[in-house]
Amino acid sequence: MVIIRTLPEMRAASIVVKRGHRRVALVPTMGALHEGHVALMRRARDGGAAVVVSVYVNPTQFGPHEDFKQYPRDLEADARLCEREGVAAVFAPSDDEMYPGGLQSSVFVEENALARRLEGERRPGHFRGVCTVVAKLFNIVQPDSALFGQKDYQQLKIVQRMVRDLRFPVEIIPVPTVREADGVALSSRNQRLSDAERAQAPVLWKALGITRDLFNQGERNAHQLEAAMSHAVALAPSARLDYAQIADAETLEPVNDAQSGNVALIAAHVGETRLIDNLIL
Ligand code: PAJ
Repeated sequence: MVIIRTLPEMRAASIVVKRGHRRVALVPTMGALHEGHVALMRRARDGGAAVVVSVYVNPTQFGPHEDFKQYPRDLEADARLCEREGVAAVFAPSDDEMYPGGLQSSVFVEENALARRLEGERRPGHFRGVCTVVAKLFNIVQPDSALFGQKDYQQLKIVQRMVRDLRFPVEIIPVPTVREADGVALSSRNQRLSDAERAQAPVLWKALGITRDLFNQGERNAHQLEAAMSHAVALAPSARLDYAQIADAETLEPVNDAQSGNVALIAAHVGETRLIDNLIL
C-alpha cells in the first residue's frame, strides 16, 4: 500500500491502475477510521477494483463554531487499518494541494435544493464544502466508482445529484449504516461522548425504531411519527433534539402522509456532541 500526498502522484497512480484494465474505487473520508469506513472499503474491493481511501479533514465543510480543530487526526493508525483491509493507496493531501487558491478560493460547487434542508439549514455552507471537496477528489483520483455511507443520508443524496448534474463519470455506491450492538451508528464523533453520554446515545436509534414500529402498525400521519421520535429523545436527560423529520427519500421534502420508502431523519445533541441517524420506512 502506498501513501500519496500530492496530486500528480495520485493522478499517475490512477492512470497506472487503469492501464492494467482495473477499476479504481474511491472511499472519501476524513480519517479517524472505524468499522463504518471499513464496510465502505470492503464493498469497494468487490469486483477487484483498486481501492483508494482519501483521508482529508476538509476545512470548508466546517462552520466557524464547529469542531474542525478538535477533529481527531491519526494518519498512522488510519494507514495501518487501510493496509490490513487491502487498500491500494491512501491519498492524504495537504490544504495547499486541495485549495491552491486558499480556503477563500473563488470556485465552489453548490447543490441548491436538497442542501437547503435539514443539515444544510443548521450548518450553512456545510454541503457546499462537501460538494466542492468531493468534486476535487473525483477530478484528482478519477475513480470509476465512489462509496458513501447511508449514515450520512443527505450527503449521499446530494453527491448523487452533483454527479448527475455535473456529468461525472463516477458510479455512486451507497453502503448501509454500520452500528454498535446497542444500535448506535459508528461515527468518529462518538469518541467525544463521556461514558454517561455514550449510555444515552442509543436514543436516536430507539426513536427511529419507535417510528418504524408505529408506521408498521399503520400510523401514516407524519407529524405523529415525528412527535413520537421527539418524545423518545426527550426521555434521555443529556439529549436535545435538533430535528426529527419524515421526508421523501429522493427530494428530502417533508411529507404529511408517510409512505413506505420515505426516510425518517433525526439529529440530536447528546451533551455537546451532535449525532445524526436515519431509517428508511
Ligand atoms: P466521514 O465522516 O469520515 O465519512 C466518510 C464516509 O464514511 C461517508 O460516506 C460516511 O457516510 C461513511 N460512514 C461514516 N460512518 C458510517 C457508518 N457507521 N456506517 C456506514 N458508513 C459510514 O462524510 C465525510 O467523512 C465527509 O463529508 C467527506 C464525504 C469525506 C467529504 O469531506
